[in-house]
Amino acid sequence: MRAPRILVTGGAGFIGSHTCVALIAAGYLPVVLDTLVNSDARSLQRVACITGVEPVLVCGDVRDAVALDRVFAAYNVAAVVHLAGLKAVGESVADPVSYYDVNLAGTLALVQAMDRAGVRRLVFSSSATVYGDSQPSPIAESAPYAAVNPYGRTKAMVESVLADLARADARWGIACLRYFNPIGAHESGLLGERPHGPPNNLMPYIAQVAAGQRECLVVHGADYDTVDGTGVRDYVHVMDVAEGHVSALRHAARRPGILMANLGTGRGASVLEVVSAFERASGRRIALRIGPRRPGDAPAYWADARGAWQAFGWRARRDLDQMCADSWRWQAANPHGFDDPAPAHASGLPRFQDNTSTSINSKPGHSHA
Ligand code: NAD
Ligand code: UD1
Repeated sequence: MRAPRILVTGGAGFIGSHTCVALIAAGYLPVVLDTLVNSDARSLQRVACITGVEPVLVCGDVRDAVALDRVFAAYNVAAVVHLAGLKAVGESVADPVSYYDVNLAGTLALVQAMDRAGVRRLVFSSSATVYGDSQPSPIAESAPYAAVNPYGRTKAMVESVLADLARADARWGIACLRYFNPIGAHESGLLGERPHGPPNNLMPYIAQVAAGQRECLVVHGADYDTVDGTGVRDYVHVMDVAEGHVSALRHAARRPGILMANLGTGRGASVLEVVSAFERASGRRIALRIGPRRPGDAPAYWADARGAWQAFGWRARRDLDQMCADSWRWQAANPHGFDDPAPAHASGLPRFQDNTSTSINSKPGHSHA
């Protein structure tokens, strides 16, 4: 029997590429739609090094109805995992219209194309950012929407659109996954996060300090009412998050309706606790200095992670030490990200390509790799 094909929008990105690994491991064939605006096509070659299967990449925009129709026509897609989007909070404040366009209009274009194609199984990348910055922790899915920036509001709006859709048409099965703070890398050291420019987020910044690429970490505030004064977050391993998509996909395939589920560990860690864990994992000292609070930061929040367990049997299995060890393995082996050649031990693995497709891009200049 042929493996079911899953359209993974944004599949070349950080979470998307790891999700491709998890999907392949679970017996699915990912078909990736991505503009590569914030990613690198070579991430999918690394997926091939790990799994032996290189996902098809369609370079195209999730807002492009023609490209979407062609993807659905060319591939017998069984379901969609929708990760394509813009995710930088500061940028969303400076340029909100682009965020509403890509994140909200992109999702509308996608669900309309899915409906035309008769594909009504969807897993959507949402975020804990929909809860805003002042809910008591642990935060359960029943907490109200209270996003405090345009990025967060795009996620809350998409969830509302999808909830209305599921209420209106019982043929849809949808899961919205609210990630807390995904970090780490695939345990092989072949796949990880490669931010363009200086990292905004804590873990890639620490990894680059450990590697000597940046001088020191600036801790954004040490005067919060937390265990050591620094911000507390629920860090969750990216492979746990990736596997969460597989579980949620199976759930959405079985159960019509819509489900909102937190993907977190249910435990918080402070900035200084993450630094200590990274120092243990890497054997390197992380130089740091305490700076002022970052505007818009919440002091502390973590997930009530029971919902995903009860709904579809997912829970995070990897701890902070493993997140740091895997991040460091990736960073140390690939100081220049995907510009570094894959390690020699990976090149001997068998590679198969799902190459049954034809070129299906709607715009000239878009390539089908
Ligand atoms: P990422 O930037 O690495 O991945 C997003 C991918 O979408 C990129 O490959 C990018 O090129 C692609 N993309 C952007 N606009 C597109 C468009 N118009 N059409 C097609 N492709 C497009 O980010 P990520 O961290 O992997 O995040 C994936 C999803 O998860 C995003 O929707 C993000 O909002 C959500 N999310 C991420 C985090 C996190 O901490 N990383 C937390 C919560 C939610
Ligand atoms: C940020 C986004 C959030 C998004 C998430 C993706 C903001 C306000 N929020 O969350 O919407 O979903 O990224 O992972 O941007 N820190 C430092 N020094 C640094 C970087 C971070 O001390 O150089 C601290 C922060 O103050 C925070 C913690 O580390 O306490 C985590 O920060 P970060 O990784 O940026 O994630 P969030 O702020 O939780």
